[in-house]
Amino acid sequence: MIGLEKISKKIGTRILFDDVCATFNPGNRYGLTGPNGAGKSTLLKIMMGTEEATSGTVSLPKKVGFLRQNIEEFKGNRVLDVVIIGNERLWKAMVERDMLYEKEMTDEIGMRLGDLEEIVADEDGYSAESNAEMLLSGMGIDMEYHGKIMHELPIDLQFRVLLCQALFGEPEALLLDEPTNHLDLESIGWLETFLHNYTGTLIVVSHDRHFLNAVTTHIADIDYDTIIIYPGNYDEMLVAKTAVRSRAEQEAKSKEKKIAQLKEFVSRFGAGTRASQVQSRVREINRLQPQELKKSNIQRPYIRFTSPEKPSGKVALKVEGISKSFDGIEVIKDFSIEIMRGEKIAVIGNNGIGKTTLLRMLAGALEPDSGKIERGHQVELGYFPQNHEEFIDKSEKIQAFDWLKRLKSSAYDQEIRGVMGKMLFGGDDAFKEISKLSGGETCRLIFAALMLNPYNTLILDEPNNHLDLESVSALGWGLSEFPGTVVVASHDRDLINEVATKIISITSKGIEVFDGNLEAFLGI
Ligand SMILES: Nc1ncnc2c1ncn2[C@@H]1O[C@H](COP(=O)(O)OP(=O)(O)OP(=O)(O)O)[C@@H](O)[C@H]1O
Ligand SMILES: [Mg+2]
Repeated sequence: MIGLEKISKKIGTRILFDDVCATFNPGNRYGLTGPNGAGKSTLLKIMMGTEEATSGTVSLPKKVGFLRQNIEEFKGNRVLDVVIIGNERLWKAMVERDMLYEKEMTDEIGMRLGDLEEIVADEDGYSAESNAEMLLSGMGIDMEYHGKIMHELPIDLQFRVLLCQALFGEPEALLLDEPTNHLDLESIGWLETFLHNYTGTLIVVSHDRHFLNAVTTHIADIDYDTIIIYPGNYDEMLVAKTAVRSRAEQEAKSKEKKIAQLKEFVSRFGAGTRASQVQSRVREINRLQPQELKKSNIQRPYIRFTSPEKPSGKVALKVEGISKSFDGIEVIKDFSIEIMRGEKIAVIGNNGIGKTTLLRMLAGALEPDSGKIERGHQVELGYFPQNHEEFIDKSEKIQAFDWLKRLKSSAYDQEIRGVMGKMLFGGDDAFKEISKLSGGETCRLIFAALMLNPYNTLILDEPNNHLDLESVSALGWGLSEFPGTVVVASHDRDLINEVATKIISITSKGIEVFDGNLEAFLGI
């Protein structure tokens, strides 16, 4: 069980949550939802003790698995070890044991070794490697990788190793912050099944509606400065939340009406002879005083890319027989395509199959080994990389506004504030430090940068990762309205359906280009 006792978190003048009490029970699977910047990651950090609450206490079971975000931390470790580190007690005992075996044996060391062996046995240490292997294979990481060092794996596989780390050692509670972000549909399916069979307390943050509906038994929704737990999955929560809200609004309205009537009575007879009746009505008014309903934190950004000042030539990108290999493995093989002005193309395929490699080459961020890519006449190309850090160096100490201003120094402050407002950085939020931005806020800032420049060709690599539902739908709309050319890699079917009229599907058999939308491609 996880318990929150009067937890409050304030950042500057902003209240994320106020006096929250909640209990998360084993056997239940909770989705933690709320728009970008609502405070989901912050709450998970408070639960794990890596961030302090302003006030209140958290109670946790002994063994908690959590998904770490920092791949860098483990880049020198062996993949299997990274997984086993997930069970801290076991890992520490194993490391100390191996160190002691190196030393000369004394009584003291012998005693200590006895204790350590007990811990290792207690934590099922003798099956640790095979358990870790099972998790890795389930997550689609082949045996050949298990003995490798983390940094030898592609980024998305490294991310999956961290997921295995969180799941390792049968934790009594599992805290996962956006686990599906870098996963393809196949791995999401595997994770769904795994979580279904999980008997501890699960809290998972996600913006993926399908995933939440498939996995959760309850939704803990952050809104109105608090957290409300609804039974049921995400869609059921939305229905219940709307019903509760409209009831509250109804009540507020009828209260207001009643108060208006009472006030009228008081003002008519206040100075007269009916003193006691007036008094009782004044008391009634005070009792009824409507509480102001807190505003919902759900907001929709307005994603609209500038209409290109100059359209590109008829052919935006001409790709001729490009190939690319890494470590002798051919990722893209002899691929050709002419991408015409105004085309909206989705790139689909499993993790690690080569989508990012193809997009980086199209964007000019990576050279093909052979073949060539020609940009059409007057192509102005904007690129949204899968790894946000390629665009925003979040270790830099700079405010969001200044960061944008630096990208387009010719822009008036007003223009920058305008774009920021559309991307929900209104008021003081424009001056947030970029290092403090949440995942979704970082995405929105990159979009602001893309919107500020009159690009006529956009290459977007999984732009919907981290974005909340409102923003993904705003993005779908923005891209389909955009008169220029779009190439977008994504696993989000709704987004692809809305935007794409052509599909590039990459599989282990090769690359297929399909003229039509996703439904036609999948034959549904
Ligand atoms: N140290 C800080 N200083 C200022 N603002 C902060 C700080 N830490 C977090 N914030 C702000 O608090 C809010 C909550 O951040 P958090 O990362 O918890 O959001 P989130 O719900 O996880 O969002 P997302 O869905 O985008 O991941 C954000 O607006 C963020 O910018
Ligand atoms: Mg977050």
